[in-house]
Amino acid sequence: MTTDLYCVMGNPVEHSKSPWIHARFAQLTGQDLQYVKRLIPLDGFRKSVQAFRAEGGKGCNVTVPFKFEAAPLATQLTPRAELAGACNTLRFDGDEVFADNTDGVGLANDIARNAGVALAGRDVLLIGAGGAASGVLGPLIEAKPRRIVVANRTQAKAGVLIERHSALAARHGVRLEAPELHEVRDAFDVVINATTTSMSGAGVPVPPGVLKPGALACDMMYGPAAQGFLDWARQHGAVARDGLGMLVEQAAEAFLIWRGVRPPSAQVLAELRATLA
Ligand code: ATR
Repeated sequence: MTTDLYCVMGNPVEHSKSPWIHARFAQLTGQDLQYVKRLIPLDGFRKSVQAFRAEGGKGCNVTVPFKFEAAPLATQLTPRAELAGACNTLRFDGDEVFADNTDGVGLANDIARNAGVALAGRDVLLIGAGGAASGVLGPLIEAKPRRIVVANRTQAKAGVLIERHSALAARHGVRLEAPELHEVRDAFDVVINATTTSMSGAGVPVPPGVLKPGALACDMMYGPAAQGFLDWARQHGAVARDGLGMLVEQAAEAFLIWRGVRPPSAQVLAELRATLA
């Protein structure tokens, strides 16, 4: 029997932890697979997917900046990927391409299972309305918080994002709002940073009053790219959480899509944290 081949496609991709995570998932579940990284030329995503399929690749993860180019390749697109307008997971079934976005469910699972915070009935602030925010809003709504406020420097983008999710929010009884950034004054149980401000050192674009005492403050990034937000959150009495758990949980969902087996994500997250410490 041949070993099934998977990869992560991105640019840059050098520092991706996905090969390590999927190799560990495979070991722990007894699955025979190989998972590699592929650095894709910025204008070569579609061709690279074709070439990988021709090599016998069974599926791939898609990361920055190709997530928006992945959806048009799908012959079957999940509703959450359609809503996000972006995909991070492709599975190749003969001529068919199944495409999903597991980022949002990864974040929601990390908050619920690894951070131990139930989103149901809570007030959530999502800062940002770019690709990262768009990828997670649907699954956050499905976790049934009381209210999600999407706050973005360019308010119009937040407006478009909540409009696109309004039917889903109505189905789940969730209030969705997109105020101007400077109008965000309430305090929230959970604050999620989906901006790139920590990476650029621009500072957190909302006042610390958005954090209820003991609030959970999550950055979708990890390492130095999340540090500014995490320091700010801790300074103001919040429980700070980086995006490493989201990374492992989105990978676990992709693994489930490919292999039909749920890997022990909490164990792999603990191991990954230990290797990075
Ligand atoms: P990603 O795919 O990582 O989400 P993106 O689509 O470029 O990247 O989105 C970056 C997000 O960070 C956006 O919400 C952006 O706000 P704008 O939509 O107004 O551009 C936000 N962002 C980046 N720099 C910022 C800054 N200095 N202050 C506030 N928000 C910032």
